[in-house]
Amino acid sequence: MIRRAIASKSYGLQRALAETSLGFFTPFVEIGIIPTKSFLRFKIEDMKIGTKSVLFGAHCFILHPFFVFAGWWKLYGFPYDPRLWVAFIVHDLGYWGKPNMDGPEGELHPYFGARVMSVLFDSHRKDKWHDFTLYHSRFLAKKNGAQYSKLCVADKLAIALTPAWLYLPMVRATGEIKEYMKDAERNSGGVIQVQKSQLKGYLAVQNYVLKWVDEHKEIKEDTWTPNARESIDENGVWK
Ligand SMILES: [Fe+2]
Ligand SMILES: [Fe+2]
Repeated sequence: MIRRAIASKSYGLQRALAETSLGFFTPFVEIGIIPTKSFLRFKIEDMKIGTKSVLFGAHCFILHPFFVFAGWWKLYGFPYDPRLWVAFIVHDLGYWGKPNMDGPEGELHPYFGARVMSVLFDSHRKDKWHDFTLYHSRFLAKKNGAQYSKLCVADKLAIALTPAWLYLPMVRATGEIKEYMKDAERNSGGVIQVQKSQLKGYLAVQNYVLKWVDEHKEIKEDTWTPNARESIDENGVWK
């Protein structure tokens, strides 16, 4: 009884505080400085999948660079060069505004980060940081007849290092999971079987990328990656 009374009192207090705060914020909501819930819902639904991925999905601009950093550290030692840190942050920002992840538009996402890195760190007639960032995509490297970079390997390891309990809610929230599940088999050249369970599907992907990383960390020729993606508006966990 007493416990219930305390609980109800504390609930009342919380409610009063919430109402006071809401009351305080109402004028800001009315003049549009603070967006309403329905406005936010509309904005999120209206966003392109690539934008959602950068904001709160598989390529979340806060979390993903951290896992790439961890992947690099594990593979190549601590990344002392701060330019690497910038690459970890910018390499996937090009997904912003893209209507698909690995379709014709999404596939070109590395170009934005590559340009940023080039402007910041490349001297004239050298494309070192540009290519380093551009070819974090093994598919793009294959398509352009170029060598994938170490960033690609660290980026793949980042997938294996991201725990399922963190990754799955994010890709479910953005809707990326549907595309990733659908195209995992094709993007792995048939190694990954289509799974009904999202968790099993993700674990299969992690297993595959770990093997890919192990085989390619010394930047050997990539014979695993299919030459071209065939359909449009497609996806894969790895790029
Ligand atoms: Fe990428
Ligand atoms: Fe990435």
